[in-house]
Amino acid sequence: RFVLRPYHQEVIDHFEKPLNVGSLDKDAKDVGTGLVGAPACGDVMKLQIKVDDDGNIVDAKFKTFGCGSAIASSSVASEWVKGRNIGDESIITNKEIAAHLNLPPVKLHCSMLAEDAINAAIADYKAKQESKKEAEASG
Ligand code: FES
Ligand code: FES
Repeated sequence: RFVLRPYHQEVIDHFEKPLNVGSLDKDAKDVGTGLVGAPACGDVMKLQIKVDDDGNIVDAKFKTFGCGSAIASSSVASEWVKGRNIGDESIITNKEIAAHLNLPPVKLHCSMLAEDAINAAIADYKAKQESKKEAEASG
């Protein structure tokens, strides 16, 4: 029987059993939350990171209300982001995610959502650190 096999098993797992589904405490000082939507389809992704004092991402969770490719993209992104540092340039790009999952062109925006969500989570974390510094300076 001829079977076309473009995916390795781990990639299929991202579609069937996504990793890191869940939430972190969005009010915690060491958590950054990114909430983004895709204008093309209305799908929404929430990705959260937990960051240590050195800027290392030690945990990540996501919730995605969207298509299978968006869920798989968040699964890959949340796995890859762990161990990276928020100071790193373009931590994970949608191109890497799309290539890894072998996404077709119509599904590229789904991986873009994951890249946007990571960047938004980092921005949220940094904003929290800034307001913490200001509070310390004034208090
Ligand atoms: Fe999951 Fe590679 S198959 S990160
Ligand atoms: Fe819109 Fe996948 S995120 S179709």
